[in-house]
Amino acid sequence: MPKLIVVNRNGEESTVDAETGLSVMEVIRDGGYDELLALCGGCCSCATCHVYVDPDFGDRLPPVGEDEDDLLDSSDHRKENSRLSCQIPVADDLDGMRVQIAPED
Ligand code: FES
Repeated sequence: MPKLIVVNRNGEESTVDAETGLSVMEVIRDGGYDELLALCGGCCSCATCHVYVDPDFGDRLPPVGEDEDDLLDSSDHRKENSRLSCQIPVADDLDGMRVQIAPED
């Protein structure tokens, strides 16, 4: 099973098992990170699952969709490596990816 390295808002890192078939948001949320609100439950309408992904893995991720892009634009904390974690399905080739929970908007 792939593993993700999750960095919380205090900068603390931990490694979590990431089941394929789940989204990165679900892995983080189920891992007990309640600072990732994921208010819309993963339907790409809230932007409270905003994370920064390890740039080394950028080309293994699905492209940013139009809705995702609009939502990320509404964040004051958007960076080049910003993604909505509900839009990233866990896959074996994401093993070892570092995801940092973005600051709250
Ligand atoms: S959980 Fe709402 S946009 Fe990702």
